[in-house]
Amino acid sequence: MVTKLTLEQKKQLFHDGYIVLKGVVSDELVSTAQARIKAAKRGESLAPAEELTDLVNRSSVTPILTEAMGTFDPPSMVHVGVTKQSQPADYFTPLGYREKDLPYFGHGMHAEGLCTMTPPQERWEGTPEEIYQRMIAAGPKGDIGRTADVIGSNTDPLFQDPDMTLSVGSFSAFVIVPLNDQMADGVGQTAVVPGGHRVLEAFYRWQFETAGKVGPEGPGWPRFDTNAENGAGHVYLPDAVQEKLMEMDSETPETTPDGRPWPRPTPIKMEPGDVAITIFQMPHTGTRNQFGTESRKNMIYRIRNKRRQPNHVVTGVSDHPDRGAFGEWLEYEEGNDPWARSKHALTHMWDEWEGMQDVVAGETPNLDPIDFSHVQH
Ligand SMILES: [Fe+2]
Repeated sequence: MVTKLTLEQKKQLFHDGYIVLKGVVSDELVSTAQARIKAAKRGESLAPAEELTDLVNRSSVTPILTEAMGTFDPPSMVHVGVTKQSQPADYFTPLGYREKDLPYFGHGMHAEGLCTMTPPQERWEGTPEEIYQRMIAAGPKGDIGRTADVIGSNTDPLFQDPDMTLSVGSFSAFVIVPLNDQMADGVGQTAVVPGGHRVLEAFYRWQFETAGKVGPEGPGWPRFDTNAENGAGHVYLPDAVQEKLMEMDSETPETTPDGRPWPRPTPIKMEPGDVAITIFQMPHTGTRNQFGTESRKNMIYRIRNKRRQPNHVVTGVSDHPDRGAFGEWLEYEEGNDPWARSKHALTHMWDEWEGMQDVVAGETPNLDPIDFSHVQH
């Protein structure tokens, strides 16, 4: 049984921001999990199913990730990422464009941990301020004004902290375990931008150094895009980050019908038995399962290094564990500033990867710095 990454694999994880490990989840664990999904009753939540959390808790994933990253709470819940087969569709996605118009199989690339409101399905007119107020009132709590109590339709708080200086929930690593074959093109893969983690971390760091704020509504990152087709798109990655991601690509990016180019994601091709590990800062997206012969099944676990908040248990599904699942305020002991800790983790992405430190020290000097000082704010 493999229990740690090789030096080469660690270097790959460092540079690409993710790695696929072949054959680290046994056939038995895979088939038990597949059978559990098949046996699910209509409407039953599989999130707490042990057969699914076992894919991490009883496989090599746990020793491998513990060695590379550090101690973490064994996931007690899983995000069951099932993508049914579908054809290009007319509805507006959170980016504010029609699903069929977005390139790369319905691209929706985003930074993790952002508040999302249900996208308007007809065009909204108004000033950016009017659109903003209307959008933030569209969450489950209704119109309570611009406060950190607002949560999105995806349950992510508008802001993590009461002072509204942090608008990104955070953890340390994604673990993705596929339960069907995803080696062919266009079968609904999770997709990433290799190397994009460095760009996003550099942007977070520039935001923090410029204004002490991190995420949407911090420097260089408006929350909504009134130029999107429905007049109210979410800015899931700031323009400056998208530009750098496109510069890293040797091919010309594809566009939406309005001529706007979008960074090209790389689908993570896996089959049962494999696992993908990505660092939190990796820009990523789901994709349309257009050509699959079955639904795409990825079990997704959100893992946080236990050092971040030793007194709080992370279940494995929340992308904003500094707050409760529905934005509840959690208790922190005197002297423990969860927002400062999370800002540090967002802007120093490898600090929570204890087993990566030699590779980080060895490889970082070879990298060109990523500069955002030209960005208007
Ligand atoms: Fe995501």
